Amino acid sequence: MERCNTCLMRMGVAILMLFGGIATVSCGHCNPEVIEAIINQTKSLQHSTVLYLNNAIADFAEALASKMPGDLKVVFFTNSGTEANELALMIARLYTGCHDIISIRNSYHGNAAGTMGATAQSNWKFNIVQSGVHHALNPDQYRGIYGANGEKYARDVQEIIDYGTSGRVAGFISEAIQGVGGIVELAPGYLPAAYNIIKKAGGLCIADEVQGGFARTGSHFWSFESHGVLPDIVTMAKGIGNGIPLGAVITTSEIAQVMTRRCYFNTFGGNPVCTAGGLAVLKVLEKNRMQENALKVGSYLKDRLKALQAEHDIIGDVRGRGLMLGVELVTDRHLKTPANAEILHVMEQMRDMGVLVGKGGFYGNVFRITPPLCFTKEDADFFVDVMDIALSKL
Ligand SMILES: Cc1ncc(COP(=O)(O)O)c(C=O)c1O
Ligand SMILES: *[C@@H]1O[C@H](CO)[C@@H](O)[C@H](O)[C@H]1NC(C)=O
Repeated sequence: MERCNTCLMRMGVAILMLFGGIATVSCGHCNPEVIEAIINQTKSLQHSTVLYLNNAIADFAEALASKMPGDLKVVFFTNSGTEANELALMIARLYTGCHDIISIRNSYHGNAAGTMGATAQSNWKFNIVQSGVHHALNPDQYRGIYGANGEKYARDVQEIIDYGTSGRVAGFISEAIQGVGGIVELAPGYLPAAYNIIKKAGGLCIADEVQGGFARTGSHFWSFESHGVLPDIVTMAKGIGNGIPLGAVITTSEIAQVMTRRCYFNTFGGNPVCTAGGLAVLKVLEKNRMQENALKVGSYLKDRLKALQAEHDIIGDVRGRGLMLGVELVTDRHLKTPANAEILHVMEQMRDMGVLVGKGGFYGNVFRITPPLCFTKEDADFFVDVMDIALSKL
């Protein structure tokens, strides 16, 4: 694979970036091919709106649709993940004629009217009306009451429908691995069971691939694929553009018909510079086999982190897939008491040694590891060694 940047130079010092701009820098900082595509498009046409079709939009839409299973072939472009999820929720509501949405506790889906309702963590929810969303039990294998039994958690979805709605719903939205929530991989068996329940209640299933998409999980291009489900709508952003403001909603042509009932317009959605950049990202991911790299280096990194867990009691859990990994710090492994103060200390020590890593989870005690997908084995070794030193200083 070609050299790609997992580091940024600051005042002559290399800083290893473990967060990737929050799972956004997919093919490396300042990727030359993506830069060139952006410059080329800017020189020829920077903006026209989708009122006038141009090949930058159509080429990217076609390339994206080719990465999708089933009949997921119609693409709408937006400027962010929030906008993509807002549009997806509206489409589900229009298609079904229902208002009720079910999302999962500890999820993050955005910060506008509908998506803040779907988001289910109090620290991200402002105190305003957020109507029509019910929050199901989180199939969290580490902290959840049913451990890794996904089907048991899914019964809560049925109960919400039975007791909290008319019996019909607009849909269900979830990440396959909760990113902001602290890299929580949904228990196996949960999504197939939940999707079945939702379909029986007339709803549409929305997969939020804003963090887990674009090869990050290594085993698959989209994170929902590892659960063997087929969503009705898929939303994406972040890694789609390597840092370009870009998002998308992909659905079937039958479902997309609802958008013809009124005028739908988004001035910058499908902007030619962004979509030309997005197409370049897709090509770079494929050409450099970054999904393979995410699987290989991610599995190696996870093994090394598991070994670190054996040496440091403060590491309660190591989890995730590919280059979407989490390390949860607890002061008591049995009680799983969040190590909030300790994690800040470790983070600062690591920063002083030239490593920037993300932090999150409901209790703010989980390291979020989502580096560019060109992350190397050497990067992984350096990162784990630095974390080892920082943990040893506690
Ligand atoms: C899973 C998920 N969905 C949606 C969003 C919202 O995306 P944006 O910040 O681009 O609006 C985020 C942002 O962190 C996210 O992690
Ligand atoms: C940019 O434009 C030049 C000149 O037309 C072309 O050779 C090059 O392939 C283009 N690069 C990309 C990434 O589209």
